[in-house]
Amino acid sequence: MSDQNCYILGIESSCDDTAAAVINNGVILSNVVATQTIHKEYGGVVPELASRAHQQNIVPVVHQALRKANIDKKDLSAIAFTSGPGLMGSLLVGTSFSKSFAFGLGIPLIDVNHMQAHILAHFIKAEGQTAPSFPFLALTISGGHTQIVKVTDYFDMEILGETIDDAVGEAFDKSGKILGLPYPAGPHIDKRAQLGNPHRFPFTKPKVGPLEFSFSGLKTAVLYFIEREVAANPQFISENINDICASLQYTIVDYLMDKIKNAVKKTGIKTVAIGGGVSANSEIRKALKDAETTHGWTTHIPRFEYCTDNAAMIAIVGELKFKQNQFAKNTVVAKARMKL
Ligand code: KG4
Ligand code: ZN
Repeated sequence: MSDQNCYILGIESSCDDTAAAVINNGVILSNVVATQTIHKEYGGVVPELASRAHQQNIVPVVHQALRKANIDKKDLSAIAFTSGPGLMGSLLVGTSFSKSFAFGLGIPLIDVNHMQAHILAHFIKAEGQTAPSFPFLALTISGGHTQIVKVTDYFDMEILGETIDDAVGEAFDKSGKILGLPYPAGPHIDKRAQLGNPHRFPFTKPKVGPLEFSFSGLKTAVLYFIEREVAANPQFISENINDICASLQYTIVDYLMDKIKNAVKKTGIKTVAIGGGVSANSEIRKALKDAETTHGWTTHIPRFEYCTDNAAMIAIVGELKFKQNQFAKNTVVAKARMKL
């Protein structure tokens, strides 16, 4: 089968986004995401509601992805799906759907690790992004994970360090909740931070190993700080929200940059790629671009739509595995926890 005739459908359902995408020779033909809004009311993802919403969304989302790609399901060469890590009830919807669809069409099934997909999203051929050359360091920062990974080849990855408690996205979201911002708070903090003074309220960076992360202490520090200030001035949050967001974001981004600098120093690798929802953050993007000049790094930041959870990244991994004949057995199961 020639590359041009290889069409892979990618399906993602690991958390609260139901997504489907079609890829052809590295180029994304369609990339559909149904974001579940129901969780906003609860200030966080409710697993039971997420799996139910996936069941509602998956057929229309896949249908739309095929229509936008302008291909018939019979043209598909394989189906790639997220088998983990993630919420079990959510993963089961995508896994069961993909198995049945592939079986019905008589085409191969490809299981994809969600965390590998965030990293390999850099290999999608798209305007505004270039593929990193091996070896490179990947910083995967999302609502579920915070990892620094040494990537030697497509499927040769080693975790150098990760969070010992909360993920960085949770630090944004939980702090945002304390400030009364809607869920997910990351983009709201980012927007307000651009209008505030990042040095107004100094927060302490958590102290752990040089390549490890910890965010639960920061969230608690924000909570105590806000409680103390609000006791003295009930209008404290509304009067200072931009400065609070700017200070918090400054601390988090500076902390992330410290860790990448440590990893560059340890490995001697100066090619740095970021991925995951938090890489949409304007300040981390700016800090990385600045490091190109100040530290001589080569940095890679994916297009916004390939940063947050999406199925295009599942499709590119599907295509890479397809070319290496790495297929899943029909007994494959979803796994909430999964090694890289
Ligand atoms: O990768 P993702 O879409 O889902 C997970 O796999 O977790 O990441 C979602 C996370 C949320 O915590 C959200 O607040 C955060 O990414 N996020 C941001 C920004 N946009 C999304 N955090 C900071 N600044 C942003 N601009
Ligand atoms: Zn993710």
